[in-house]
Amino acid sequence: MRKLFATIADRYDFITVALSFGRDRAWKRRLAREAQLHHGDRVIDLACGTGDIAFAAALYGAEVVGLDVTLRMIELARAKERLARTRGLWPIPRFTVGDMMALPFADASADVITTGYGLRNVPTLEDAVDEIVRVLKPGGRLLSLDFNRPRQAVVRTAYLGYLTVVGATLGWVLHRDPDTYRYIPESVRRYPGAHGVAELLQARGFDDVRVIPIFGGFMTLHVARRRA
Ligand SMILES: C[S@@+](CC[C@H](N)C(=O)[O-])C[C@H]1O[C@@H](n2cnc3c(N)ncnc32)[C@H](O)[C@@H]1O
Repeated sequence: MRKLFATIADRYDFITVALSFGRDRAWKRRLAREAQLHHGDRVIDLACGTGDIAFAAALYGAEVVGLDVTLRMIELARAKERLARTRGLWPIPRFTVGDMMALPFADASADVITTGYGLRNVPTLEDAVDEIVRVLKPGGRLLSLDFNRPRQAVVRTAYLGYLTVVGATLGWVLHRDPDTYRYIPESVRRYPGAHGVAELLQARGFDDVRVIPIFGGFMTLHVARRRA
C-alpha cells in the first residue's frame, strides 16, 4: 500500500478531481466548515496526502499539522506550503511524515483531527480510531471524509463496477498499469460503510456521531465528538 501511494503521489491531485467529477475540493471545504474551527485550534490532518484539507482548515486560523506516511505526498504538500509562504498567506500548515497507527503526538493534544480518505486505507480501523481517541482532547472533534459502501447490493455492485472500470482506465492512461487504482474498489468492499463506521466510533469513545451523506450518499462525512 505504501509503495502504491508513492507511485500515484504526483498524479494524486488530478485523480481526485477526475474521480469526484470535480467535487472533491468542495467536499473538503465542507469538512473544514463542519469542524467549526476557532483561531488557534490545534488541528491534525491524518493521511494528509498533498495537503488540501490542512490548507482548508488553516484558512480558519487553526494551527494545522498534516501527517502522511508517504514521503512523496509530504514533499508535494511542502511545495504548496512554500508557494503559500511566497504569496504571504498566513497561517500555513506544517507537514510531517508519520504513521497514523502510531501518532507522534502526546495524549489529549489536539482540538480537532481530520482525515480525507484516510480511515478506509489503514490496516486496522479499530486501532486507528483508538489512536485518534488517545490524541484528541476530551470534547475534541473528529471529521472524516470517505467513500461510502452502499447497503443495497445492486447499487453497491454498480458503484464498485464504476470505480473498477474508471480506475483501470486511469491506471492505464497515467501509469500504463490498469491495476494501479484497484485498491479503491477493494478498500470500499472491505470498509464497513458509513453506518458501520459510525457504530465503531460510538463504541470506541465518541459521542454525537453524525453521518452526513455527500454526493447522493456515495460519499460520507463523519463528524464525532470525543467523549469527555
Ligand atoms: C487517498 S490518499 C488521501 C489524501 C488526502 N487526505 C486527501 O484527502 O486528498 C490516502 C493517503 O493515506 C496515506 N496513508 C496510508 N496509510 C497511512 C498511514 N498508516 N499513516 C499515515 N498516512 C497513511 C497515503 O500515503 C495517502 O497519502
